[in-house]
Amino acid sequence: MKRILVTGGAGFIGSNFIHYILKGYFNIELLVNLDLVTYAGNLENLSSVEGDSRYIFVKGDVRDRKLVQKLFSEYEFDTVVHFAAESHVDRSVVEPEIFLTTNIIGTQTLLDVAKSYWKIEPDNKYSREFKSGVKYLQVSTDEVYGALGTTGMFTELTPLSPNSPYSASKAGADMIVRAYHETYGLPVNITRCSNNYGPYQFPEKLIPLMIHNCLENRPLPVYGDGMQVRDWLYVEDHCSAICAVLERGTAGEVYNIGGNNEKANIQIVRLLLHSLGKGEELITYVKDRPGHDRRYAIDNSKITSQLGWKPAYSFEQGMEQTIRWYLDHQKWMERVTSGAYQSYYQRMYGK
Ligand SMILES: NC(=O)c1ccc[n+]([C@@H]2O[C@H](COP(=O)([O-])OP(=O)(O)OC[C@H]3O[C@@H](n4cnc5c(N)ncnc54)[C@H](O)[C@@H]3O)[C@@H](O)[C@H]2O)c1
Repeated sequence: MKRILVTGGAGFIGSNFIHYILKGYFNIELLVNLDLVTYAGNLENLSSVEGDSRYIFVKGDVRDRKLVQKLFSEYEFDTVVHFAAESHVDRSVVEPEIFLTTNIIGTQTLLDVAKSYWKIEPDNKYSREFKSGVKYLQVSTDEVYGALGTTGMFTELTPLSPNSPYSASKAGADMIVRAYHETYGLPVNITRCSNNYGPYQFPEKLIPLMIHNCLENRPLPVYGDGMQVRDWLYVEDHCSAICAVLERGTAGEVYNIGGNNEKANIQIVRLLLHSLGKGEELITYVKDRPGHDRRYAIDNSKITSQLGWKPAYSFEQGMEQTIRWYLDHQKWMERVTSGAYQSYYQRMYGK
């Protein structure tokens, strides 16, 4: 029976993960969701699990050491899955500092508290023994590897070469996680996943943003020539990969997660226009953002061959489910795009 601390569970991937594991992937005794509920967090995503006696929500900051210590001593976690982050590249270009404090200091705070609670002899600096069955999992991104040319793929051995303040902060966090394993022997894993899509994604990211604009007949802002290539993975497949790593990953290892679905942004935009019955005149090319990586591609052979994981959804199936979800949840979209979203949108894509 697992006692899990999930951070950032009110966000896009975190909320999908909570739904996924409470449905029965693991035998869960307790799941605490620690989330600051920033603009990106939405507790409405979790309304259907609020009555589940295994689920506890705590509003708070991963950088708050006293709070994290209190939660560890109260709930005796054996597993941490760390999603909480500032996650949007565009925002990191205009406000880098919060990315460094949330993504790096937040990670180090969690690692430090986990180390002191899980270490068998906490005061012995030479001891590398930890309670059995404990694990810290860092949810990272393929963006830490930087950009590729027209060929090649990121493997777990590709040197980190982040290009945006967001990816640099995630790479910094990964390095701290690695250091806690190398220095103290803390049982950790790092997962580096490609672009996710699916339900509950805040409409600042490509797919929900474009669906939202299509439905309102608003222009679809496409950066530069739209030929930035990403690998796309349906969010539930990311959740199943994280579970495979929690269950079978070797401590200290990094696992890339990807779906072998390379698509240029403009291809995604055209697919959405077509699926929603709209014309290409809605496409509006806007000035590219600085440091925009041209191409990412993930070699997922380590996780598939060593842990036996593979995606359950093809790109077509995942996109069909995603589009249907947003069409069925237009009220959700209206609520998350009211208020502060409007001024943000003007700042990013306005003239
Ligand atoms: N979205 C993707 O395509 C993708 C791909 C690979 C990896 N990732 C990684 O997965 C994780 C989750 O991504 P997402 O897209 O769900 O992000 P998101 O922005 O939707 O959610 C982030 C969550 O973290 C919370 N949060 C932010 N700062 C916090 C703090 N200081 N303390 C506690 N909670 C805080 C927010 O309230 C929000 O609920 C991130 O670490 C991201 O780097 C995302």
